[in-house]
Amino acid sequence: MSEAIHIVEVGPRDGLQNEKQTVSVETKIELVERLAAAGCKTVEAGAFVSPKWVPQMAASDEVMANIKRAPGVSYPVLTPNMKGYEGARAAKADTVAVFGAASESFSQKNINCSIAESIERFRPVIEAAKADGVRVRGYVSCVLGCPYEGKVPLAQVVRVSRALFEMGCYEISLGDTIGVGTHEETRAMIRAVAQEIPLAALAGHYHDTYGQALSNIWGSIAEGVRTFDASISGLGGCPYARGASGNVASEDVVYSLQGSGFETGTDLDALIDASRWISEILDRPPGSKVTRARLGA
Ligand code: HMG
Ligand code: MG
Repeated sequence: MSEAIHIVEVGPRDGLQNEKQTVSVETKIELVERLAAAGCKTVEAGAFVSPKWVPQMAASDEVMANIKRAPGVSYPVLTPNMKGYEGARAAKADTVAVFGAASESFSQKNINCSIAESIERFRPVIEAAKADGVRVRGYVSCVLGCPYEGKVPLAQVVRVSRALFEMGCYEISLGDTIGVGTHEETRAMIRAVAQEIPLAALAGHYHDTYGQALSNIWGSIAEGVRTFDASISGLGGCPYARGASGNVASEDVVYSLQGSGFETGTDLDALIDASRWISEILDRPPGSKVTRARLGA
């Protein structure tokens, strides 16, 4: 049997959070449902963050209340603090995600507090989630560079990742928020973090701003990582990282992995169809090269 790679589909959150145009709740619901129907076992469905900070995620409660949940599929949502956790809990989220950063400036710009303060805010979220039987994922942003500080010391990436893991996050998603990292830098980053955290608990979250994401995924695979975040049609970016493009496109990842003998459990044709559909709604060409090639676009 071929080896499995788990894709965490983040398009409905990381993808849509950055959209300037209003995306209807119906569209968000359909996107989540299409992605689950395409075989994605984890579909990040929204964020319980301040609507003043990220207006596009304001209706995450409605999305969560109305999606038809497929058996065996997990629908994580972001929760920066207890207020977010309470919203997520009321929305019956099975998994929540706290999100910290390896860079002080990014932490301030994104969640309005220092790294140390963020960890103290996450602690009660993780404790409450544990008591409620809700799983907690941990993001660390800026692992390969910061839009405000440039290079980020690896020791800082390791320190924040370890803190989140030790507090109880089942998985640490390592975010190249602005997509600047290269293949060898990514490998070195993974090796450093893997000295402290089991490889099975690491995920790569690579934005494709500089076109390096797929290469960085392959570098991470060579180091033993088997979970990657990806975004349908390459949607998105971070509103607090100017110029950040979307995550690597899910279709491109699946094409590359499946064509190389890895099993992702997803149906490439169904992903391409979802990508075409959301791109039409957003009135732009699909951000995936595979989808554009298949559609002759
Ligand atoms: P703050 O202003 O410091 O918060 O923001 P506060 O506690 O002082 O509260 C201020 C107001 O916000 C109050 O309302 C609170 O009730 C409300 P007011 O009294 O003014 O009417 N509030 C909330 N409302 C809804 N949900 C909440 C919540 N918390 C407070 N959870 C805060 C701090 C963290 C809330 C804010 O900075 C925020 O929401 N930031 C989110 C930023 C964000 O979502 N960024 C994008 C996601 S991260 C990302 O994309 C990176 C990632 O993909 C990985 C990678 O690529 O690297 C994950
Ligand atoms: Mg991201």
